[in-house]
Amino acid sequence: MNERQTFQPSPETCSGAGVNDKAIYREAAADRETFWAGQAGQLDWFKPWEQVLDESNAPFYRWFAGGKLNAAYNCLDRHLKTERKTKAALIFEGEPGDQRVLTYQELYREVTKCANVLKSMGVRRGDRVAVYLPMIPELPVVMLACARIGAPHSVVFSGFGPGSLCDRINDCRAKLVVTADGGWRRGRITPLKDNCDEALAGCPSVEKVLLVRRTGKEVNFTAGRDYWYHDLMDGAPAACPCEQMDAGDDLFILYTSGPAGKPKGIVHSTGGYLTGVAATHRMVFDLRDDDVFWCTADIGWITGHSYAVYGPLANGCTSVLYEGGPDWPQPDRFWALIEKYGVNILYTVPTAIRSFMKWGTAWLENYDLSSLRLLGSVGEPINPETWLWYHQHVGGGRCPVVDTWWQTETGMILIAPLPGVTPLKPGSVTVPVPGVEAAVVDNAGNPVPPCGGGYLVLKTPWPAMLSTIYGDPDRYVAQYWSRFENAYFTGDGARWDEDGYFQVMGRVDDIINVGGHRLSTVEIESALAEHRTVAEAAVIGKSHKLKGQAVSAFVTLKEGFTGSPELAAELKTHVTRKIGALARPEDIFFTPEMPRTRSGKIMRRLLWEMAEGRVEADLDGPVAAARHGI
Ligand code: WTA
Repeated sequence: MNERQTFQPSPETCSGAGVNDKAIYREAAADRETFWAGQAGQLDWFKPWEQVLDESNAPFYRWFAGGKLNAAYNCLDRHLKTERKTKAALIFEGEPGDQRVLTYQELYREVTKCANVLKSMGVRRGDRVAVYLPMIPELPVVMLACARIGAPHSVVFSGFGPGSLCDRINDCRAKLVVTADGGWRRGRITPLKDNCDEALAGCPSVEKVLLVRRTGKEVNFTAGRDYWYHDLMDGAPAACPCEQMDAGDDLFILYTSGPAGKPKGIVHSTGGYLTGVAATHRMVFDLRDDDVFWCTADIGWITGHSYAVYGPLANGCTSVLYEGGPDWPQPDRFWALIEKYGVNILYTVPTAIRSFMKWGTAWLENYDLSSLRLLGSVGEPINPETWLWYHQHVGGGRCPVVDTWWQTETGMILIAPLPGVTPLKPGSVTVPVPGVEAAVVDNAGNPVPPCGGGYLVLKTPWPAMLSTIYGDPDRYVAQYWSRFENAYFTGDGARWDEDGYFQVMGRVDDIINVGGHRLSTVEIESALAEHRTVAEAAVIGKSHKLKGQAVSAFVTLKEGFTGSPELAAELKTHVTRKIGALARPEDIFFTPEMPRTRSGKIMRRLLWEMAEGRVEADLDGPVAAARHGI
């Protein structure tokens, strides 16, 4: 950890709705339940909870048991009674440059109409709706419409291919899919409807498809199954009552890569999730009433769910959505957007920042970035050099950088500074937010001494925690609550220093992190193994200057096939079709045999060293390389 430099909080940048008194840490630790109840009390409840935390069936913790609320009501209706009614809820810019601003009143109206459309298509409380949309306003509209009628949504990132979409739809047996004729990405159209049609060939649960027109691209249209969004919205009534949901009712399912391959449906419940994301959005980003907040993550990931949609809207803030790539049409798009919309808070991933560093500061120089007050980072470790560049060149040396650690499973930010009170150390996610308890432990679960490294665990439940894995409660217990006694296992390795500051090192399981995107090596291996030429595949994450990690695949072919650049290209395309472009291997090494330990396990460490170029990759005989004492 770079401990040479510490940045003290500065009062002029940090005195918003956030926190100005570090007593909050002590108070929250002294009585966590009262602290979280206080945060939950900032939402509107139809019926108050009877118990803050019901631990009777741990680790199936129930937050705010007995309480009733609706997430869409909290994100929309309640603001209409205030001056926020006419405030921008969403500022959208499409990649081609089209813009749309929706006030809270306008967004409310879109959502209620859309909720009626969903109902007219047969969606009832408890039904799952799969949403496969680009970053356009219809995406949050559909999510909130689902929330309004109590139908859990399952958003599938639009960068995923037909195979991933199909698996996710089948796992939660979605009844309806909402998709678009495409989305814009670096000047090209992502063929979402084509992917969807391909996926649906294997999805018996889906009855209907709701199709948003985005690009105007011609697409297949199956009469009786497919319906145009704009047709149904035109005739839909605007009044739609809210379902009164139990705090523990599912708000959404979001699939994420888990060890052992198969994606897990992470389930988030209504009351705890909304409390956690609203509270952390206020505290960590030191929120002010007039803030324009831009979380650049795609809503297809948890970061977008929590900090582009639910957190900002629950807090009545203005959230910016941008559809396309950061370098389209040229590498200054982010800076142009910040200047144009007067963005106050920017929340992005280190991979993007490393790209900006590579593209050079000249791209920033022509823009007025003085509206920025706070910068956030998420998704992967941010090295001190990148942190300092972000602080100096984007933040003009005046904006605190909040590095935030959390996961799809945790729902909300868990380790991050409160910029008004917590000194910052570049490269460290600093300390757990108030009301959260984390530790670094050794193999036996004992805390390691300061400056030591080990496994990152969470010692107490927190409101936005996952409630289970969809359809697989045993896996929920096995995966998170069995490795250590009475603690949640994050799957991350970490260190802490003498001030209790955490530094997250990365995953200790077979998950790799490519540009802040979580991928399972096992899932990519099975995709490769499905190819007709492949006998066996082993995938590792090699270090990558920009993306943190990149996918490297070692492939053994079936008898009769030989490796060639053409076959490598075919296998890369195959992975893109099955999972998505983000899983596409950067390199493929053909090898007649995998190096194995005596017990037959693939020696991944050796493969990794080969991919890194640390060991001569004698690919005609990796076993021979293994024998050379590595
Ligand atoms: C990693 C994204 C270092 C970590 C919100 C975690 C981080 C995984 C950070 C979760 C950070 C996330 N510093 N590593 N600030 N934030 N990670 O589920 O390995 O897509 O377990 O959630 O990303 O990825 P997920």
